Amino acid sequence: MTVNSLNLNHIAIIMDGNGRWAKDKGMDRIFGHKEGAKSAKKVIEACSDLNISYLTLYAFSTENWNRPQSEVDSLMSLLSLMLKNEIKELERNNIVFNVVGRVEDLPKSVQNIISDVIDRTKHNTGLVLSLALSYGGRQEIIDAVNKIIVSKKSEIINEEIVKNNLYCPEIPDPDLIIRTAGEHRLSNFLLWQSAYAELFVSKKNWPDFKKKDLMEALKDFENRDRTFGKLTD
Ligand code: FPP
Repeated sequence: MTVNSLNLNHIAIIMDGNGRWAKDKGMDRIFGHKEGAKSAKKVIEACSDLNISYLTLYAFSTENWNRPQSEVDSLMSLLSLMLKNEIKELERNNIVFNVVGRVEDLPKSVQNIISDVIDRTKHNTGLVLSLALSYGGRQEIIDAVNKIIVSKKSEIINEEIVKNNLYCPEIPDPDLIIRTAGEHRLSNFLLWQSAYAELFVSKKNWPDFKKKDLMEALKDFENRDRTFGKLTD
């Protein structure tokens, strides 16, 4: 199987189960997130090696702000640390870094690191890695509609106008959405863009998700019959 033969441009992942993974080991939740960050790093490298064009990781949802402040703070610190530590690796692997979500909600220090990483990787030509941060699918659609209203460019909206006002209209819809930890739901992730995405659920908690699990998801995707609502010949 080669990725080129799969017609698979964009993989999006709901990285679930960090807390459960840590609990099973008698550790605190942030330990699970730290191990989850290691999994993210490996999956990013794997997608880059496989010549996948786009990878989007759901790292922090709008709903995650309602978690205990200590967990929110730890996640923000982990994100900052990871971006600072990995910038050279992103540059070396020719990865373009991007964020989807309400970046303005994040602490200023995190916003500064994000701008720096975006700036330093913007001329790369390989994998486009997007982190969904302070991201909610409903919020994204509301933000798009408000942008359209404020711009007063149109009174009647259509699919193209909404799409063009989403956070990153230039990124194609995900072909495959992977969710770990056995849950079968989207949890407000890429609601507009997931209209025709294939879903793959792994039972593994995110820190246990390895390259071989990614390959299993790709193998499964290979056997999907994507008709996009039409009839096959
Ligand atoms: C869901 O697990 C995971 C998150 C809310 C955060 C995801 C963050 C990471 C993987 C670490 C940072 C990653 C990057 C790329 C910087 P959960 O806490 O909801 O798990 P649970 O459902 O078992 O409690």
